[in-house]
Amino acid sequence: MPIADVPGYHAVRDHTEALARPLSAEDQVVQSMPDCSPTKWHRGHTTWFFEEFVLDRWAPGYERFHPKYQFLFNSYYEAVGARQPRPRRGMITRPSIDDVAAYRSAVDAAMDSVLTQSRDPDLVALVELGLNHEQQHQELLLMDIKHLLSLNPLRPAYRESSGASGAATPKPAGFVAHGGGLVEIGHNGHGFGFDNEGPRHSVYLEPFALADRLVTSGEWLEFMQDGGYERTDLWLSDGWAHINAEGWNAPLYWEQVNGTWQVFTLNGLAPVDPAAPVVHVSYYEADAFARWSGARLPTEAEWEVTARPAEAGPTAPGLHPRALVQDVAEGETSQWFGEVWQWTSSPYTPYPGFRVAPGAVGEYNGKFMVDQQVLRGSAAITPAGHARTTYRNFFTTKSRWAYSGVRLARDV
Ligand SMILES: [Fe+2]
Repeated sequence: MPIADVPGYHAVRDHTEALARPLSAEDQVVQSMPDCSPTKWHRGHTTWFFEEFVLDRWAPGYERFHPKYQFLFNSYYEAVGARQPRPRRGMITRPSIDDVAAYRSAVDAAMDSVLTQSRDPDLVALVELGLNHEQQHQELLLMDIKHLLSLNPLRPAYRESSGASGAATPKPAGFVAHGGGLVEIGHNGHGFGFDNEGPRHSVYLEPFALADRLVTSGEWLEFMQDGGYERTDLWLSDGWAHINAEGWNAPLYWEQVNGTWQVFTLNGLAPVDPAAPVVHVSYYEADAFARWSGARLPTEAEWEVTARPAEAGPTAPGLHPRALVQDVAEGETSQWFGEVWQWTSSPYTPYPGFRVAPGAVGEYNGKFMVDQQVLRGSAAITPAGHARTTYRNFFTTKSRWAYSGVRLARDV
């Protein structure tokens, strides 16, 4: 059914009306983009990471490229000292893009020199962390570019491309059962993993079932037309207060154009594709949708023991999650990686036995283990090879500028 024909869509506030209303608290936050950083900041910061954590220690006599870059490009490392406030990163008109490229080249050359002289395991571990950190920022800078472009009334495309997939609406999701019991989750120490992924440990699970595919935008439209954003009974108290304060009535980047739901993507504005996975929903919305569906969100342990690791290998990153090309076969599962990060009901807390590493690098993950939820999988914009079944992404319950979506779970 064309989106314009979805009954009830008229009840949802039109985009032009939304533009005319006074700025909500969120609009004001969005306009100043406190969570987002310019691309050159991401490039400077990932470069600084090597200077700070590798060259300072492993390149005797290395002279910092610029005395102020530590202040400019330190993100959140208290042990390293003061820094440019995150909401003001967008005001850094200098150094220029060329200056940041020169910084990058100088650090690359110094790294080359260090790595030809030593392969000490401690050095290699830091370089590997720096490379994985950089991959995280490759995804983050696309999230930030998208957010910035979405605020431009011209809705410019990052890259031109056709919008909708044209794929058929998938059949209703099936649920694949797991008997529960004592299972093991977490990184086993072989190959790279962030510190927050371990130690591997036992978890007891009651029997459960997970959906064999992701929730689609078409299903989200059904939720909307059924008053999903207007029914108190579906929402957590904090979520209900938040969507009302912010006037949320659809996922982030959805807007009505001439009575049709459109979605802003890195390919520009396009009609909402009902077959594609829904993306850019907050934890509150994911939780309300699950309740409306008579289901719930999976725990991270349920997700990890069900996810198919074969799909965790290199993917071909795109700019938007893709619709399934064919329905999932009975008993099979799909879309674990390379489409959207999947909200779990698990709070982001340390695994049993987790210890923060000594020194500034210990601030990488451990200090964020409160007031956030874990997301699993990987997104369309996640760099190839960066996904793992044990990977723990995390965001606050209100966040939705990440590529966050939903996979449902049920008790058995
Ligand atoms: Fe960083």
